Amino acid sequence: MESLERRQAIIVLDFGSQYSRLITRRVRERRVYSELLPANTTLAQLQQQTNLDIKGFILSGGPASVYDEQAPLCDPAILASGIPVLGICYGMHLLAYQLGGHVALTQGQHEYGPAIIEVRAHTVDDSTRFRIFEGIRRTPAQTERLDVPPIEEMPRLPVWMSHGDSVDQLPLGFEVLATSESEAVAAIADERGKIGLQFHPEVTHTPQGKEIIQNFLFRVCDCEPSWTANAVIEEAVEQIRQQVGHEHVLCGLSGGVDSAVAALLVHRAIGAQLTCVFVDTGVLRAGEREQVIDTFEQHMHIPLVVVDAQQRFLTRLANVIDPEMKRRIIGEEFIRTFESEAERLAGQHGPITFLAQGTLYPDVIESTSHDTASTATRIKTHHNVGGLPERMAFKLVEPLRTLFKDEVREIGLALGLPEEWVWRHPFPGPGLAIRVIGAVDEQRLDTLRAADAILIDEIRRADLYRQLGQAFAVLTPIQSVGVMGDGRTYANVVAIRAVTTGDFMTADWARLPHELLGRIANRIVNEVPGINRVVYDITSKPPATIEWE
Ligand code: XMP
Repeated sequence: MESLERRQAIIVLDFGSQYSRLITRRVRERRVYSELLPANTTLAQLQQQTNLDIKGFILSGGPASVYDEQAPLCDPAILASGIPVLGICYGMHLLAYQLGGHVALTQGQHEYGPAIIEVRAHTVDDSTRFRIFEGIRRTPAQTERLDVPPIEEMPRLPVWMSHGDSVDQLPLGFEVLATSESEAVAAIADERGKIGLQFHPEVTHTPQGKEIIQNFLFRVCDCEPSWTANAVIEEAVEQIRQQVGHEHVLCGLSGGVDSAVAALLVHRAIGAQLTCVFVDTGVLRAGEREQVIDTFEQHMHIPLVVVDAQQRFLTRLANVIDPEMKRRIIGEEFIRTFESEAERLAGQHGPITFLAQGTLYPDVIESTSHDTASTATRIKTHHNVGGLPERMAFKLVEPLRTLFKDEVREIGLALGLPEEWVWRHPFPGPGLAIRVIGAVDEQRLDTLRAADAILIDEIRRADLYRQLGQAFAVLTPIQSVGVMGDGRTYANVVAIRAVTTGDFMTADWARLPHELLGRIANRIVNEVPGINRVVYDITSKPPATIEWE
């Protein structure tokens, strides 16, 4: 079998910083592949991944102090490997400590805040030794704000600093490249590509952070910007072929962008060995079934099996109130439906042994991350990760396991998925079942569908759809009194939820124009029987979540 070309990679080791994932994103934005791995990953383990050509390491920040008894350390073999290492905050302290320097401890909290650093001038102009600050200058606006002459000996940069422990003795071979205004060491490096930064270049509050990371990638590590949509597609296709061989794959389409892109990749890899299945669960939105069929058959030319499973799902959901129970039932029913379809289709295709899923990288990080996942309480089980039954007849193909959502969108576009699909808001696996609060039945689902369709229609007309992360209606179990014509009504309350978000881990409620909200409320009350009141949800996440259940 053809072997894959080795992929240049930057390995980010996660020492527990809230920004670890962001570092990986920043590297990938520069078109270099990056993986976030637990702090205790060893060089030997990494060397077993023969498809990776490791060009550099980034040690993230973290809450510990290097002299803590339980302080996580970096595998010394990584530091001795000669591969460049960028240590950020705690990562810098580790570099200093593990290589024979010393770190001064502050007994308090590690606080973050804005700071100014002074970069030693020679490091900005020297293109042979320490290249991390090479060519970095402030923008004119920053120069003005800092109230200093535009040309000066020592460039001063605004950064986002962690005010905690700091390096007070350098390891052998290291030099100070920058100091903070309080004279603390802000950046150190040796001539072999080991660099420590006391501040966080990955956050937007460090305006030159992107350039600093770019210098690390292209000047220090000699990476090439080769992590492009086409490269990702080629590699995914090759990997799917290797994993699946001549066996058959079933891909469940949800109507969302992830499962569509997963299907397109698998289809490109193995063509007719793939069967796509769309399950009409009875908890879909208005027109969803028709849109999926139309897009896949007419535009993508991928044959689709549509399964009518409304009764099966709704019967099992009857009288179920608990949201987690709803999720479990739906996760389980999905798999049982896929299994019976696979059995039915086996007559035509031979046995179907794989199930393709659109699991994304954040799901993978969250379910394997050493720090948060094992200790954090589970807020909701998400279908792709937590909602699948343990006993399952399929092996999984997950071609998006290494990708972030925006990368999936880019690949979707490159594979020819219509723009409208690529930018669809995410829709949860359990569908409207977790948006009808309380017991779910056909009538309540119809009511919600009608309200939701009006909301989305108005948001599209106002040209706001793309600016929102998600927008949907929720049918509450509350009845309220109203007056219509001359009569009293006692009917349902619908809530509108619209949020802006980058990663869906946090979200802010969208400041929709009042006129738009008014129009939506008017139309819903007038056009949807059984609703006499509309409320707008103005809570952010946290403390609320995006979905109500
Ligand atoms: P929450 O409600 O946790 O949602 O703030 C974050 C994102 O996840 C989606 N979500 C789900 N997706 N199965 C899914 O496939 C689920 O059970 C589920 N619950 C929430 C939610 O729509 C939002 O995009």
